[in-house]
Amino acid sequence: MKKPKRYTITAALPYANGPLHIGHMAGVYIPADTYVRFLRSAGREVAFVCGSDEHGAAITLRAKKEGRSPQDLVDEYHNLNERAFRDFGIGFDIFHRTSDALHHATASDYFLRLHAKGVFEQQSSQQYFDEEANQFLADRYISGTCPKCGYENAYGDQCENCGSTLSPQDLIDPKSTLSGTAPVLKATSHWFLPMQRHEGWLRAWIEEGMLEGLQAHDPSQWKRQVLGQCKSWIDGGLQARAMTRDLDWGVPVPLEGEEGKVLYVWLDAPIGYISATKAWAEATGKDWKAHWCDGDTKLVHFLAKDNIVFHCIIFPILLREHGDFILPDNVPANEFLNLEGKKISTSRNWAVWLHEYLEDFPGRSDELRYVLTATAPEFRDSEFTWSDFQTRVNNELVAVLGNFVNRTLVLTHKFFEGKVPALDNYSFDNEQAARAMERIAEFRDEIAALIEAYRFKEAQAEVMRLAQLGNRILTQEEPWKRFKTEPGHAAAVLHLCLQITANIGILADPFLPNTAAKIREMLSLGEADWSRISPELLGVGDPVGSAQLLFSKLEDEEVAAQVKKLQASAEPQKTDNYTPMPQKDTISFDDFVKMDIRVATVVAAERVPKTDKLLKLELDTGIDRRTVVSGIAEHYKAEDLPGRQVCVLVNLAPRKLRGIESRGMVLMAEGEGGKLRFVQPEAGLPNGAEVR
Ligand code: 2FM
Ligand code: ZN
Repeated sequence: MKKPKRYTITAALPYANGPLHIGHMAGVYIPADTYVRFLRSAGREVAFVCGSDEHGAAITLRAKKEGRSPQDLVDEYHNLNERAFRDFGIGFDIFHRTSDALHHATASDYFLRLHAKGVFEQQSSQQYFDEEANQFLADRYISGTCPKCGYENAYGDQCENCGSTLSPQDLIDPKSTLSGTAPVLKATSHWFLPMQRHEGWLRAWIEEGMLEGLQAHDPSQWKRQVLGQCKSWIDGGLQARAMTRDLDWGVPVPLEGEEGKVLYVWLDAPIGYISATKAWAEATGKDWKAHWCDGDTKLVHFLAKDNIVFHCIIFPILLREHGDFILPDNVPANEFLNLEGKKISTSRNWAVWLHEYLEDFPGRSDELRYVLTATAPEFRDSEFTWSDFQTRVNNELVAVLGNFVNRTLVLTHKFFEGKVPALDNYSFDNEQAARAMERIAEFRDEIAALIEAYRFKEAQAEVMRLAQLGNRILTQEEPWKRFKTEPGHAAAVLHLCLQITANIGILADPFLPNTAAKIREMLSLGEADWSRISPELLGVGDPVGSAQLLFSKLEDEEVAAQVKKLQASAEPQKTDNYTPMPQKDTISFDDFVKMDIRVATVVAAERVPKTDKLLKLELDTGIDRRTVVSGIAEHYKAEDLPGRQVCVLVNLAPRKLRGIESRGMVLMAEGEGGKLRFVQPEAGLPNGAEVR
């Protein structure tokens, strides 16, 4: 595209149902922020928008489990995540929220416009329904065995184990996570987007970039894996997809008679980018329409690979069908970041959480930004390990960048009274020193080109190469040795090194904002302005501040403690397949104390004839001897039970089971796969001891 007048940069809206971890940062937010920092420093007009995705079944499910309202849950995580972004210097113009009224109105209007144009088809389809909970089940509320990998706790929309996208009806042995019962299929009607209608133009647009009436993009600038995913979707045949869901939390479908239905994430979250831009424009007097509807705007979506199809196929259809909107110029999606050899997993607590990182390493956000860029999953999955983190911090940030800047400033103070000494056309024998000044402009252009091509890892490596160049010049020229005999040489060397340092204060800003700001502060340089990059950034005689510490060494113990913490907090492997039942409704303390639970000993046990599950137990409850029938025959043999202590709810109304009167209930804990285990006192207690 010709030089854009302005930019709209979006970063995928994170779900507000948990804290952010390093995978989010490496895949989406650091690359987006790096790009935006560069654009701003180059004087371009940018709107950088994001916000919390506060809808969806995963949120209602978690809220239910925790016995709180969805709004309460998303309030907590919206605030936590907003703070984490701020602490890591992610400079959104706005971090909006999809529960905001402005977003609801924007998404509703968007739906209505498309609806009026006949973009959707209403279709009745069979959806799983939980008869016990009396509701349709969103995909996330169904779990079962993944047909692709056999993982037993795959969700209806996705298998977390193998990453496959699923539909609930693909699951083997589906279960409702609300009641644990097997759901039944029942007809419900939804609004579908018939994507197959759009195959022709989508293919032309994605593969060739050109499209009549729409601005072109250059497919050779798109990442191969992004094009690959899009092509394979299109080649596989596009289908109609439901744009609405049966759920009571989200943006309601704004049509009569459609109560209980909300817009699905595809018609909700990306419209969140638009409402965020509107909210920002309202607050700052900007024009949101210019950012979304003007062909001179460059729209770039930052996200990870699980959202590629969403932003390259589904959202473009919605944008184009609306009629007023531009299409993205690029979607530089990243792959995934793994952690210490395993997939990052929120549910298994296998993650480095941003807010915890900053508690453990206060003020050291740039170190993490640096390592996450250096190891970013730009073209393939990559890996974060604490030992690599330590190596990069110590050998690169401390030993190269920090050391170079420190030596330069300290030597300037020692030999030149803290003022920039003159270069005086000094002629170096050393080729590197001789070319250092022209190299600055070359570095500037290379780094800019790499950033514009979304190759942030290489761009950052170039900044480090410039610091390395400076370090080498210092080491080879040894100005501290030659100062006495050849002060002109020492002056020239330090002049070079100071100019390099000053330019790093601008070049490093997209990657290491705090560090770059410190460097500029030491040299009184003001804002990072890309157009000022030059071998004459500093003037001879300019004052040089005293050296501030940029980075400090990471000790082995600090790193070992992180590994230990990760291992210790991770869920043990054996519960990997276990999804706990949602929490039940709150009860009062009075309700609780009504239950009379006692320690008892099994005196005798036998199978109840003609049943698979039932055992008849004779119990000594301390109060009396009584019979309790218990459904545990598949888990315990009758002959193993006499003498065993158990806990019994003794004041349960008697019930007849297979003709036997059962007076009480033995407490059991249920694990994965319905496995039952006795709840028993940790040490022997007299029969009749109360449990409370
Ligand atoms: O996948 C997700 O994390 C969703 N919250 C959607 C992100 S993309 C979007 F914002 F459009
Ligand atoms: Zn799977």
